[in-house]
Amino acid sequence: MDPHKVDLAKLDAIIGRHQKEKWGLIPLLQDVQETYGYVPPQTIEPIAAALKLFPSQVQGVITFYSGFSLKPKGKYVCRVCRGTACHVKGGRSILRLMQKELDLKEGETSPDYQFTLETVACLGACFLAPTMMINRDYFGKLSPTKVNSVLGEYQKK
Ligand code: FES
Repeated sequence: MDPHKVDLAKLDAIIGRHQKEKWGLIPLLQDVQETYGYVPPQTIEPIAAALKLFPSQVQGVITFYSGFSLKPKGKYVCRVCRGTACHVKGGRSILRLMQKELDLKEGETSPDYQFTLETVACLGACFLAPTMMINRDYFGKLSPTKVNSVLGEYQKK
């Protein structure tokens, strides 16, 4: 995917699906994010116009919800847990290892758009600490060896 090329033709159909909904903005933004992998900034004005909102209101919602991103993300979004349960089980060293292996800092995406590295407050699987997610898959009871083998699988894909 070339993240700089945005096919806006799909946007009309997305807007059409949600324009009549009473609280259509969030489902519409979810639809945009699923279609493009992020919310391209150039979609904000047409979305605002269609829902009779100010662009700043749409922007505000995108900024408020961490699930929305205005920047393209990698094909694989890695979310390392930095919650307390994971922290006491060595989560910090898992994060450091991920940073080293992917050569990314928190919030960064690799130049080839394969990986994005993020941290989250808790993945809701504390009994499996330390944990991380890659896209929708959970990985728990992580050790350096396990991190290397999991990453190896994704790097091969
Ligand atoms: S603290 Fe890591 S999953 Fe809850």
